[in-house]
Amino acid sequence: MNLLTETLQKGIEGRQHSLQQKVAADPWRLSFHQQPPTGWLNDPNGIHQKEGIYHVYYQYSPLDPEGGLKYWGHKTSKDLVHFKEEEMFLYPDQKFDCHGVYSGSAFEKEGVTHFFYTGNVKHPGKHDYISSGREQNTVHMTSQDGFTIDSREVVIDSTDYPAGFTQHIRDPKIIEKNGLFYMVLGGRTIEDKGAILLYVSEDLSKWTYTGNLLENQPKLGYMWECPDFFELDGQDILLMSPQGVEQSGNEFENIYQSGSMIGKTNWEKLTFEPSGPFIELDRGFDFYAPQTFLDEKGRRILWGWMGLPDIESDYTNPTIERGWQHALTLPRELTIEEGKLKQRPLSEYKRLRKDGIETQLDLSEQYQSMPETSTTYEMLVKMNSPKEPITMQLSQDIVLTFDGQGFALTLGKSGFGRKTRKIDLTALDQIQVFVDTSSIEIFLNDGEYVLTSRMYPKEKTTAIQFKGNTRIQVEKWDLKEA
Ligand code: FRU
Repeated sequence: MNLLTETLQKGIEGRQHSLQQKVAADPWRLSFHQQPPTGWLNDPNGIHQKEGIYHVYYQYSPLDPEGGLKYWGHKTSKDLVHFKEEEMFLYPDQKFDCHGVYSGSAFEKEGVTHFFYTGNVKHPGKHDYISSGREQNTVHMTSQDGFTIDSREVVIDSTDYPAGFTQHIRDPKIIEKNGLFYMVLGGRTIEDKGAILLYVSEDLSKWTYTGNLLENQPKLGYMWECPDFFELDGQDILLMSPQGVEQSGNEFENIYQSGSMIGKTNWEKLTFEPSGPFIELDRGFDFYAPQTFLDEKGRRILWGWMGLPDIESDYTNPTIERGWQHALTLPRELTIEEGKLKQRPLSEYKRLRKDGIETQLDLSEQYQSMPETSTTYEMLVKMNSPKEPITMQLSQDIVLTFDGQGFALTLGKSGFGRKTRKIDLTALDQIQVFVDTSSIEIFLNDGEYVLTSRMYPKEKTTAIQFKGNTRIQVEKWDLKEA
């Protein structure tokens, strides 16, 4: 560790102490989600599994719940449910990353973990930091164990990116194909169009630009962050987080989006040919910058940031006053079924279930309720696509509605500005809900749609209420703290 890193580490530890007490006293701290010990968290980074241990790193500003200089925090787990907070992994302590160690990924090869990330540098002066004043260097780092950095060097200097791009090029992710390594980077062209830059390498060290992976997407905004590119169930999948996509009906309602495209890669032309449109991964209020990895069981697992940047004019997170902000979503397993991407909560989370109840409710006579005595629970509601409206009210003021035409999530005061998100949907047979002390994740039709949102209830409730002219089957479990 160099002297600068040591000084940063000591300075943080010293100042983190008073924040820790504030954070510990907060009843909105989550019980089975991953959150920052203090301060701010954003994107999941470098997720991988090595010798049985899962490593999850994340964009982290330990001293400032509203963001600031970015480090990489680090959590490990043996079962993807219980996590240990490790020492911070990566500090912005080099000339090429001194204004933030930005997002990146991990790639395993012959026992070595290769990390790639963006070293952010801002030069003093009068700049817009889009077309001038900024460096976003692509850095390669190796580690044997995921805890110690063995080497770290710039492999694509910010001055070496191709012409036609602004200085916003970042968030590397690697895929191996036909004996070569490919890197995707998210970018913004000088015409303010989002782009995915593709690079190729034989040795993970020397990289050559091959072109834009995905052409002709005029409606997908001005900047694409956090690209991810992988094979799944015989298809190629491209994920990205575009900024600047316009709302269209009930779609793309958030300030920025995260979504997927299914298609085929033309490995000769080195282009991705989508077979369908860009589809949002999550339809709730708080989801961005997801990253996937392949675990040792061969599952493609996705984690998102349960938050979004630049939302303050619409909705807020009152935990800022309590010394922290944001968390990661539950991890989800991805599959392709009948040509569609499905996302399901990991089965490991069943281990947290306790005190289960199962019941059939006939709502045709009057509304029915179920006890809601815990602030952390999972509920599975099965129904047969009712034609008349059915509503479910839970927590302080969260209402879920299905009316044969669509599904809606509505928050009251506990939404701190979050109001309604809707999905056009005519058939609904299952709603699976995970409620944590200050979050809700809703999986519809066994992973067809997901809605993730933060919520900040101040009042305790005792019952979940169901209304509608139909019969439903409900299973519910309180969830143990992870
Ligand atoms: C996405 C993002 C990335 C960047 C990181 C910085 O939320 O803007 O593009 O690398 O966050 O924290």
